[in-house]
Amino acid sequence: MNILVLHGPNLNLLGEREPEVYGRTTLPQLNTLLKNYAKKKKAALKIFQSNHEGGLIDLIHEHRKWARGMVFNPGAYTHYSYALRDAVAGSMIPTIEVHLSDIHKREEFRRTSVIAPVCLAQITGKGVNSYLEAVDRLLQG
Ligand code: DQA
Repeated sequence: MNILVLHGPNLNLLGEREPEVYGRTTLPQLNTLLKNYAKKKKAALKIFQSNHEGGLIDLIHEHRKWARGMVFNPGAYTHYSYALRDAVAGSMIPTIEVHLSDIHKREEFRRTSVIAPVCLAQITGKGVNSYLEAVDRLLQG
């Protein structure tokens, strides 16, 4: 199964950015974890990070025929990007929205996701395990 993993804005700074909220695992470490996990489960992963809304939209479009599932952490775009929501819906890629922190236990503005309604599920607050659970969920079909 081909799975696209997309990390949104500021996630390139994982490990050094607010570690008390997002943990100390860096993005390269998280990506290695994901690749090893996927290998065990015989899934093919492509992983990208972008700080730009349009860049994320382009990646979704480019992989819409390749990907059979997507694990998407849209970062702060989660809370207001209708353009990304439309890209997810339009791509027809079954998508799991993931967050490292628990967005429902933080500031009010983070409690809303405009993207979750077009996703299969939202997994939030489990640190890097949010991503691993999302891979499992996609593999379960
Ligand atoms: C985040 C939560 C968002 O609210 C925040 O803007 C992020 C990271 C998370 O993984 O917990 O950049 O998506």
